[in-house]
Amino acid sequence: MTNTFTSSPAADVLARLYENAERSHREFSERMDATAPEQRPDVNNSREFFAAAKDLYMAVRPDTSRLLYILTRTSRARAIVEFGTSFGVSTLCLAAGLRDNGGGRVIGSEYEPTKAAAARASLAEAGLGDLVEIRDGDARETLARDLPDQVDILFLDGAKEMYLEIVKLVEPNLSPTALIVVDNSDRSPELLDYLRTSDDYLPTAAADGVTVAVRTV
Ligand SMILES: C[S@@+](CC[C@H](N)C(=O)[O-])C[C@H]1O[C@@H](n2cnc3c(N)ncnc32)[C@H](O)[C@@H]1O
Repeated sequence: MTNTFTSSPAADVLARLYENAERSHREFSERMDATAPEQRPDVNNSREFFAAAKDLYMAVRPDTSRLLYILTRTSRARAIVEFGTSFGVSTLCLAAGLRDNGGGRVIGSEYEPTKAAAARASLAEAGLGDLVEIRDGDARETLARDLPDQVDILFLDGAKEMYLEIVKLVEPNLSPTALIVVDNSDRSPELLDYLRTSDDYLPTAAADGVTVAVRTV
């Protein structure tokens, strides 16, 4: 049996995105090394950092990309919301899962219009453009409207200090057994605390700093 995730053209585009990601991180480090410390973007100020890192992929790790495909397939998801699209690595994995589920929609979100445009082009090249809508601008605004009634997966990978706010925003639209997938979850203790203490979620640690929670309402 073939699947979209490991077949051409999606797998070729994903491999190229990972090559570009590696290069972008190398070039960013070189640029930062050549910049005086006081002129480097403040990593604790996410808006300033992301604005200075327009070329930086910050993509999910390869194991996480597989996990996203697997979770999309096994949950038979049809509607997915993504906080933080960047160049679309995670979006591609989610959309590949939707394709093999028979269709659906990933709603992505990205501050930087150049990144969003590049992601759209890559997803089209991967043959997945029809499954993806990427919303330009601050996700706290773009994800506050026009969401599907039943969101099956919420994937969090934008500014870590906004994770809980985004969960609260999307929560009214989550399906009763929705998954919340959180990259770099250790950087959002308030979200982890919320998921661990709520009767409505069952969270567990997965690979590579990812937490997965199932909704249990
Ligand atoms: C870690 S990267 C996402 C990587 C992407 N998920 C992937 O696997 O390729 C985080 C991205 O989220 C975007 N971002 C952060 N906060 C955001 C917000 N409030 N609204 C929209 N985009 C945001 C940043 O511009 C950055 O491109």
